[in-house]
Amino acid sequence: MNEKNLQVVLASRPAAAAGESDFRFVEAAVPDLREGDFLVRVDWLSLDPYMRGRMNEGKSYAARVELGEVMVGGAVGTVVSSRHGGFAEGDKVLGSFGWQRFAVSDGKGVMKLPDPRLPETVWLGAAGMPGITAWMGLGQVGSPRPGETVVVSAASGAVGSVAGQLAKIAGCRAVGIAGGAAKCEHAVKALGFDECIDYKAGPIDAALKAAAPGGVDVYFDNVGGAILDAVLRRVNTGARIPLCGLIAGYDGADIPIRNVFSLLVNRVRLQGFIVSDRMDLWPAAMRELAGHVAAGRIRYHETVAHGLENAPRAFLGMLRGENLGKQLVKVS
Ligand SMILES: NC(=O)c1ccc[n+]([C@@H]2O[C@H](COP(=O)([O-])OP(=O)(O)OC[C@H]3O[C@@H](n4cnc5c(N)ncnc54)[C@H](OP(=O)(O)O)[C@@H]3O)[C@@H](O)[C@H]2O)c1
Repeated sequence: MNEKNLQVVLASRPAAAAGESDFRFVEAAVPDLREGDFLVRVDWLSLDPYMRGRMNEGKSYAARVELGEVMVGGAVGTVVSSRHGGFAEGDKVLGSFGWQRFAVSDGKGVMKLPDPRLPETVWLGAAGMPGITAWMGLGQVGSPRPGETVVVSAASGAVGSVAGQLAKIAGCRAVGIAGGAAKCEHAVKALGFDECIDYKAGPIDAALKAAAPGGVDVYFDNVGGAILDAVLRRVNTGARIPLCGLIAGYDGADIPIRNVFSLLVNRVRLQGFIVSDRMDLWPAAMRELAGHVAAGRIRYHETVAHGLENAPRAFLGMLRGENLGKQLVKVS
């Protein structure tokens, strides 16, 4: 193939907040295919907070990216040539193809897009990994019952937006927490949250009391830190907290849980979970989420950066909250 591959590799490990200089662009030849491989042109790249953790030296639940290695990332692409029996030229595929224009795959962990009637980006968002995360955390750990109050942080984001809408589908009152009036308005008017609290407007205690007068039964936590502590002051006896993410601490900020007493006296179940631990549940989750999207019960918004050149900037912006909904890169 004459076309060159453009790749974004990890250039350095950030000491605190990640910056653009932590990434480097590399031009490489597109490798020849061996028997059993196929070549994917990456059309859409998903940018997700977990990638920040992969840039660090330390041990996490998933392997770090090594210096000079292509950044990891889920993507939707098109098979452009194939020596693999199961994938043919023109197939639309979903896989971990990384921050690059072309990827060679042997098919492991790759699936053809399950339902061509839906927009292909939905498999990176509401019916893909972020949506499955919301589905798994809420369903398996949150166990919401009709009439209960479910609070969701990062409510307008890829995971939070689905968690809130699933809470509504389960017959709950959904209260979002998000950064800024525009995101809160989006959460209520476009996504159907009953209320949304702007945590950037000041301490959230009074607003949370007003939005959840009967207390909080489920807190879907994407953030940690001061917001978790504020919610712990309002939880009911027997509350469940699916601990999904701690984005307030991803750049190295100290985010201790101060209200540990509340966990004890309210018999709270706080449980971390990782969506990739239960790959067996993904097909059912994708089917259900895709059904909700097709029926208009789950709505979603996307923020799109154009060109792989803009991926680092879009990624750093997403960590700072500049995205509304799912952050994507249109690569090709
Ligand atoms: N456990 C799992 O398996 C799993 C899987 C996927 C994602 N996650 C986690 O789920 C969370 C949401 O991921 P996502 O993909 O849906 O991202 P997202 O919500 O679309 O984007 C990240 C959002 O985090 C918010 N944020 C950033 N810094 C914050 C801070 N200091 N305090 C409060 N909010 C902050 C920003 O929204 P605001 O403007 O509202 O602050 C930003 O838009 C992340 O913590 C992620 O790591 C976990």
